[in-house]
Amino acid sequence: MGNQTGMMERISESTRSLTTGVDTKDVEHWVMIYIMGRGYRVPADLTIMTAMEFAGYRLIRSCGCRQGFCGACATIFRREGEYKLESALACQTRVEDGMSLVQIPFSPADAASYDIASEAYAYSVFSKHYPEVARCVSCNTCTKACPQDLEVMDYVQSAIKGDFGGLTEQSFDCIQCGLCAIRCPAEIVQYNVAQLGRRMYGRYGSPEPAHLKARIAEIEEGKFDEALDRLAGASTEELEKLYAASERESDG
Ligand code: SF4
Ligand code: SF4
Ligand code: FES
Repeated sequence: MGNQTGMMERISESTRSLTTGVDTKDVEHWVMIYIMGRGYRVPADLTIMTAMEFAGYRLIRSCGCRQGFCGACATIFRREGEYKLESALACQTRVEDGMSLVQIPFSPADAASYDIASEAYAYSVFSKHYPEVARCVSCNTCTKACPQDLEVMDYVQSAIKGDFGGLTEQSFDCIQCGLCAIRCPAEIVQYNVAQLGRRMYGRYGSPEPAHLKARIAEIEEGKFDEALDRLAGASTEELEKLYAASERESDG
């Protein structure tokens, strides 16, 4: 219990430093931004996410990994003097003077239920679960909206052609932020179409990886049982020591 309390204090401390870690007397450049229509003066080198926290917002939704991977911080913004609405990830985008923005923490988009084991490995799986995919008018709006710079329209076209491999490759870096779907005039939920396609490709299209089969056999033979039991019974201090001593892949 004591260990857990210590851990919670450290998490709480690190969260505090994210929200209050800017010393205003060191700030040379400031910008005005407008969050849901209300103006705030914030340091110029903050991301949208940290600027919102600086302005006093406590992000419970619209914030997850802070590193561009989880898709939780979808944001719509407009630059001063421009008419275009643009989209971005709040954790990856720096504020600009005059920027007006709002966050879209969740898109209430359709997500079909299916059992891939009993689906046909063909275009019909898309027409069955997401028939609207056939209505794509190739306007490319989704591609322009994607903060991951994916060729979203191309992967939708791959789905329409029943090209599961192409769809998987083209959509692999999708983080399910939902920004493409909310802009689509054909009301297609591109990212859920892609997820269905990747699941189908994983089951039926991609070659079975030999190393994975070998590892599963090792697990089933009990090769790691003892090590797993040791970890499950370790205290937080022991786990921290093991983690600090573990080998990690280099960043380079
Ligand atoms: S926004 Fe919709 S209609 Fe336009 S290209 Fe993308 S999927 Fe097709
Ligand atoms: S494809 Fe759509 S859901 Fe996926 S990252 Fe791009 S905009 Fe977000
Ligand atoms: S917080 Fe996860 S992508 Fe921005």
